[in-house]
Amino acid sequence: VRAGRCVVAVDGPSGSGKSTVSRRLAVDLGARYLDTGAMYRAITWAVLRSGVDLADAAAVGKVAGEVELRIGTDPRGYGVTVDGVGVDADIRGPEVTGAVSAVAAVPAVRTLLVARQRDMIAHAGRIVVEGRDIGSVVAPDADLKVYLTASEAARARRRSAEDAADVAATAADLARRDRLDSTRTVDPLRQSTDAVELDTTELGIDEVVARLRELLTERGVA
Ligand code: DC
Repeated sequence: VRAGRCVVAVDGPSGSGKSTVSRRLAVDLGARYLDTGAMYRAITWAVLRSGVDLADAAAVGKVAGEVELRIGTDPRGYGVTVDGVGVDADIRGPEVTGAVSAVAAVPAVRTLLVARQRDMIAHAGRIVVEGRDIGSVVAPDADLKVYLTASEAARARRRSAEDAADVAATAADLARRDRLDSTRTVDPLRQSTDAVELDTTELGIDEVVARLRELLTERGVA
């Protein structure tokens, strides 16, 4: 047992249950929690505010490098600020959701955020980190790597319940984002070969969290 240190990487597509499961696991373990998707969303918010062309990778990268992004790691509630402005509500809105895949595909943005994420993980001790490339790129030496999946129908249902949006429109948007996130050239969404895959279509949050705790116990890390 490595005293005090434990990194859990949770990857998977939108609506797979990552956020709910990761937060709950972090609370149960008394660990920190890092939502890397919120970091990509916050940079996207800054890019939209700046008015630069989303297709201009150099300009997008420049905005990312100039803003001051802050994110908390309390699983019970964390704030995200960009240049001191609280953006928690705005980064979940349709404008940011529609633009985030384009911004997350810019190599300079990823280099910057991956470095920030590694730094936060190194200082955290025990932490649950969720995203798309955590097990493959950000924390390849994580104690446990999980890849959550769920049927497309279940993912669309969960997301539309969260957003109070139309299920069909949500399904189309999820499919579009998954395609962009999986086919981009830099660090696409993919399952690490050493990740444990868990299909959450038929599982409740409690069951998923319990399974992850079992896996951590088997590995002697938590
Ligand atoms: O998990 P989310 O929906 O908040 O993520 C928002 C977007 O950010 C998602 O479309 C893909 C991108 N993302 C990424 O490229 N790498 C990560 N580690 C996390 C999110």
